[in-house]
Amino acid sequence: MTQTENRPAYPTLSPAELRHPDSLKWTLYGDDVIPMWIADMDFPVAPPILAALHERLERGLGYHQLMGDGVLDSLLRAKLETHGLGDLPEGGLALLPGVVPGIYSSVAALTQPGEKVLTMTPVYHPFHLSITGQGREVSAVALLNGPDGYEIDWEGMEAAAQDTGLMLLCHPHNPTGRVWTHAELEKLRDLAVRNNLYVVSDELHADLRFTDGPFESFAADKRVQDRTITLTGPCKAFNTAGLGIGVMIGHDAELVKRVRAAAGGLMGHEGAMSVTMWQAALRDGGPWLADTVAYLRANRDFLTGYLREHLPTVRFHPVESTYLAWLDLRDCPHAADIQKFLLEEARVAVHDGPTFAPEAFKPESQGFIRLNFATSREILTEALERLRRALGESQ
Ligand SMILES: Cc1ncc(COP(=O)(O)O)c(C=O)c1O
Repeated sequence: MTQTENRPAYPTLSPAELRHPDSLKWTLYGDDVIPMWIADMDFPVAPPILAALHERLERGLGYHQLMGDGVLDSLLRAKLETHGLGDLPEGGLALLPGVVPGIYSSVAALTQPGEKVLTMTPVYHPFHLSITGQGREVSAVALLNGPDGYEIDWEGMEAAAQDTGLMLLCHPHNPTGRVWTHAELEKLRDLAVRNNLYVVSDELHADLRFTDGPFESFAADKRVQDRTITLTGPCKAFNTAGLGIGVMIGHDAELVKRVRAAAGGLMGHEGAMSVTMWQAALRDGGPWLADTVAYLRANRDFLTGYLREHLPTVRFHPVESTYLAWLDLRDCPHAADIQKFLLEEARVAVHDGPTFAPEAFKPESQGFIRLNFATSREILTEALERLRRALGESQ
């Protein structure tokens, strides 16, 4: 791993300091547990963000100026252009308090109660919760476990698409870490056009990629632009989930308005500190992000090597994006209650596989875990040693 001069390599994170009462990740489980569940990184705030937040506090905290082409608006437009989302109209961006509210309001605006919504499984759980929680039905198609990574079941998707008006896409995909390729995106676009689907593309993890070249948004092709809402935010790349903010993006300003309106006044406005944070991240956060991605990539490679050498029964594909490894422990004797077993015996907290599956698919996700490797190498190593001891003893 190459580290840029004068920037941290995050070598010395202290569990005692991380276990602050403010931290959900570090306090949900016991004091001796290493938390590798929720998608927060253990790294400190990027220095340019910290500086901007300090400076903003000096000036008071009134309503933020978000009218017209504000600073955030132009920084976002420039960034989105690199994803293939150029030429966004006026009204093509609508800020949100987070990405999840955008998923919920899209489901509310673009479907009727009782209708089916298409998604893949496993997937980030608010996808199916936003569907069932609003009286719609999940139409889930299981990803296929191919030799080189998870693959889309095209036949399954085609069949399911006939019966729905909305597809929720996770790109890059949480929890498998796939970044859908140009060829896959083309087939998904064809599917959407052929079946007249609206598409919501959650692209929150786009900046945390280990693949080469620029990121390609689902809506980077004209033929799907009028039917797509893209959602993103800074909270994964810059580790700022405690300062909720996100954006809804569309080439059809009327569609953006309609989806935003589905939440009415319930959504609230974006916090001033969140806006300041995102502006600083977009303007000055590039070097920090590059270092962080390099660190995460090295952790991913270390994890890969460790599992292959010491825990060969754990099956997985190294992720192309995100700091979340999707591990198949179905060959472990404790597969039936793997999350509980690892918590109790290894004192490592991970997310349980069935969390990421809608009801009908929960049994087949049992035995999988999602492990967050965005921590120091030292803490990651300790966690892996604990898993090895616990699993070693059980095999
Ligand atoms: C794919 C995906 N979408 C959305 C979110 C949450 O976004 P927010 O906190 O902005 O609502 C997460 C959090 O991990 C995620 O992985």
